[in-house]
Amino acid sequence: MAKLDSKSERFLSPSMKMADLINSEPGLLNVVNHCGMTLGFGEDTVEECCLRRGRDPYTFLTLCRLVLFNGYVLSEAEFGRVKIDEVTDYLRSCHDTYKDSWLPVLEEGIGKVLSCRPEAQRKVISEFFGKFRDELKHHFEVEEQKIFPSLYEIGRRGRGTLKLFSEEHGNIGENIQDLINLLLKYIPYGTSDPDVIVLLSHLYSLKRDLAVHSRIEDFLILPLVKGGKNHE
Ligand SMILES: [Fe+2]
Ligand SMILES: [Fe+2]
Repeated sequence: MAKLDSKSERFLSPSMKMADLINSEPGLLNVVNHCGMTLGFGEDTVEECCLRRGRDPYTFLTLCRLVLFNGYVLSEAEFGRVKIDEVTDYLRSCHDTYKDSWLPVLEEGIGKVLSCRPEAQRKVISEFFGKFRDELKHHFEVEEQKIFPSLYEIGRRGRGTLKLFSEEHGNIGENIQDLINLLLKYIPYGTSDPDVIVLLSHLYSLKRDLAVHSRIEDFLILPLVKGGKNHE
């Protein structure tokens, strides 16, 4: 396997092998998945894998950089090359995964952990999770109905108007951290419970992924539709 210098934001290139990229940065598996690419890469390069699925390698690598490097800022030239419709497909696929897979897994995990807890704890945590889940789904629904159609139109016609992304991104991060804190700081455990550890790992993963998702909406999409100016 090629040794990759992942400290540099520029280490990603279309000519590197996809399997080397994923072995070096397993967190990018989600990007591969949300971009509609399937496993079985063999010795194929990033470019070959993207083109086989009708994806633009440049847009894929830009998403990878935003995922890997917190605070990554695109140059004006980079903004000019990103395909807005492919980024929108990516965001839509993230929503589907959160709604259809991650949230049900969390709900099941919470049910398991709470099954032998006192009634008062069950009530607090299940109500808190229910509120978080419903608000998150509502947030996705608003973006899917009011923002994504405009993005596809902008991608197609090169122009259009866009209602701003919701200002709720900060609240989403805070709510999931509050849920983590409930389980981590305020529930007393008499014995070790492996189910809580698994549940917390899932919550941390969702928190991380949602933060990246929001970053892409706020720091790639918004400046992109404003004409490629970096978003402060
Ligand atoms: Fe979103
Ligand atoms: Fe959002």
